[in-house]
Amino acid sequence: MLAPSDGEKCNVVLLGGPGAGKGTQAEKLLEDRRMQHLATGDILRDEVDKGTELGLKAKKYMDKGELVPDDLVVDMVQKRLTDQKGYLFDGFPRTMDQAKALGRVLDLDLVAYIKISKSEAVRRLSSRRVCRDCGRIYNTIFKSPEREGVCDECSGNLYQRDDDKPEVIRDRFATFLDETAPLIDFYRERGLLEEIDGEQQPEEVQAEIESALHQGTG
Ligand code: AP5
Ligand code: MG
Ligand code: ZN
Repeated sequence: MLAPSDGEKCNVVLLGGPGAGKGTQAEKLLEDRRMQHLATGDILRDEVDKGTELGLKAKKYMDKGELVPDDLVVDMVQKRLTDQKGYLFDGFPRTMDQAKALGRVLDLDLVAYIKISKSEAVRRLSSRRVCRDCGRIYNTIFKSPEREGVCDECSGNLYQRDDDKPEVIRDRFATFLDETAPLIDFYRERGLLEEIDGEQQPEEVQAEIESALHQGTG
């Protein structure tokens, strides 16, 4: 039984296309767990905001809905694997090479594949807002803040991501199908995959992930 909330180490991947709810579920899962959240998209956006060399390189790909090259992303993740708590990977791995690189450094306990349709992704992402300060995720249709444009948690400003334009969302979805979807079978064959219906209420999605976490999959 895997029970990271009871102090056991546990490494989990949230796998899913754009708008599947990876970040939303990570927020929920981390409410009562001491795992380290490793969200490669968030880290890359932070690098872009800071104008670092990595950020400047990454932005060209992100703006087009393409993947940032594996060597840059793997190096960035490896530098952050310093902790002993167990990891919640969000948006990583995203290619076979990334999955193999990760497999060389740690064992995974669960890959939760959160599945949604392309039309649902476009709908959710066109209405997503994110807090500039704490990263909390909102939605103008499904989960609006108490005050428009202001984060309930920290009063930070809410903004719309540059890649949340309908044409880029479609390219990101196509990139997911081409480059990331092969990981579904890769992890299924290893007995690690749990497929989750992402088009339910966020609490129902969470309950399915929690249940997979507590049962183990292998
Ligand atoms: P990344 O930031 O990871 O973007 P993504 O994978 O496209 O996923 P999103 O963050 O858009 O969606 P999410 O699944 O987190 O959904 P959320 O919870 O926000 O990556 C961005 C870019 O960085 C990539 O395109 C690539 O260029 C680069 N990159 C990142 N990682 C990389 C890697 N490993 N290798 C190479 N390049 C990499 O939810 C979405 C919206 O829906 C929200 O408004 C939310 O409130 C709402 N919502 C969530 N759940 C529900 C629900 N159940 N019902 C209704 N609404 C919901
Ligand atoms: Mg996300
Ligand atoms: Zn905030």
